[in-house]
Amino acid sequence: MRISIRPVDPVSRPFFAGEVSGIDITLPLSASEVAAVAAGMDEFGVLVFHDQHFTDETQLAFSRNFGGLEQATGDIAQGHERRLSMDVNDISNLDRNNRLLARDDRRRLFGLGNRLWHSDSSFKAVPAKYSLLSARSIPSAGGNTEFADMRAAYDALDDATKAECEHLICEHSQLYSRAILGFADFTDEDRRRFAPVQQRLVRRHPSTGRKSLYLASHAGAILGWPVPEARAFLRDLTEHATQRKFVYAHVWRQWDLVVWDNRATMHRARPFNASEVRDMHRTTVACERSTMAEAA
Ligand SMILES: [Fe+2]
Repeated sequence: MRISIRPVDPVSRPFFAGEVSGIDITLPLSASEVAAVAAGMDEFGVLVFHDQHFTDETQLAFSRNFGGLEQATGDIAQGHERRLSMDVNDISNLDRNNRLLARDDRRRLFGLGNRLWHSDSSFKAVPAKYSLLSARSIPSAGGNTEFADMRAAYDALDDATKAECEHLICEHSQLYSRAILGFADFTDEDRRRFAPVQQRLVRRHPSTGRKSLYLASHAGAILGWPVPEARAFLRDLTEHATQRKFVYAHVWRQWDLVVWDNRATMHRARPFNASEVRDMHRTTVACERSTMAEAA
């Protein structure tokens, strides 16, 4: 069987999110298979693979086909609190003994920031290229992940707004995104780790040349702008970019692997019953350079 990629929603959104079949990505890939997946990522921005029975080891091996990996320094759980290795972001509601976190556990409350629209690791100077999320256990209902196409959102801006955005630099931090939800339970070490970084608001994709809006709930300031004006502007852009016509909602099956390009999309998690387990393991391929060092 040969690898094939077809749009998940060929009628209403033919160019956003592809469903891949004909390949077992838990096994080592040939160079041409890696190239086919990378080409699919450039075209769709989001790829869905079903029935991929990953371990962390095989997920890491697949991920390394696409570049160097990030460490999970953005997780709130560090050191002895961690359930998974530093190569894997823990997107679950479990503690290190695989027990459900209490409703008021700070790790759970910090994790609720994932329900706000964001691009992974935009709070790091060198942010994420691809995120690869493996569904190990899913709740009986809810817990979808929604993706917004930031290329389409950019293309749909009027010319005046495109010109206004073109050279703006934003500051991103997890301190900003958590403040939106009223979470402020940070240690001094967290505050140092999450110090704001600068990112361009408009990015040009290094492979396709397409421009996109680089937004996230982590963006809390624009250089040279008063903060309330910056936040109102970023909120308006986010509203524009997350209109339903730009969004694909992924309904998870166990053992799905979904890969998204953080340079071209935003995403958010949707709610589910907190008394059920949702255990997702994320590996993350880093960009090669900061957005400030990318060609405009
Ligand atoms: Fe995320």
